[in-house]
Amino acid sequence: MKISLTVNGEQHETEIWPGESLLYALRERFGLPGSKNACEQGECGSCSVLLDGTLVCACLVLAAQADGHELVTVEGLGEDGQLHRVQEAFAETGAVQCGFCTPGLIVATVDLLARYARPSDDEIREALSGNVCRCTGYAKIFDAVRLAAERS
Ligand code: FES
Ligand code: FES
Repeated sequence: MKISLTVNGEQHETEIWPGESLLYALRERFGLPGSKNACEQGECGSCSVLLDGTLVCACLVLAAQADGHELVTVEGLGEDGQLHRVQEAFAETGAVQCGFCTPGLIVATVDLLARYARPSDDEIREALSGNVCRCTGYAKIFDAVRLAAERS
């Protein structure tokens, strides 16, 4: 079947298999590997994207369900060749180690800061509770979120 959707402001049209995930379509059909595939069952958050402005796990959404909708991935957050302030904050605070969790955490943080400009630690914890990181121990990630919030 054919689907048509807006990804990071650009219109895309592609043939898909009806059972394939949005994550698969992003990575394998649209050439956008920023969203990571770690668990493929909604447990790790590494595939987080914004679908019509709502944070979702792309591995749990069928590509067919995104037909006619608007998607933002980690590749679409920056503007004019510049990193998004959340991306800069993650890099500056050392919140990126292996980096596998980072795209999902960044998208989830962008979603959080759109809802709470100055989130409390509890609000950060709640918002990022679906994103697993094996490397950092989360302290630097909290620093990154606080820094990005300060710069808003
Ligand atoms: S790959 Fe989607 S939640 Fe882990
Ligand atoms: S930086 Fe390696 S999993 Fe988070």
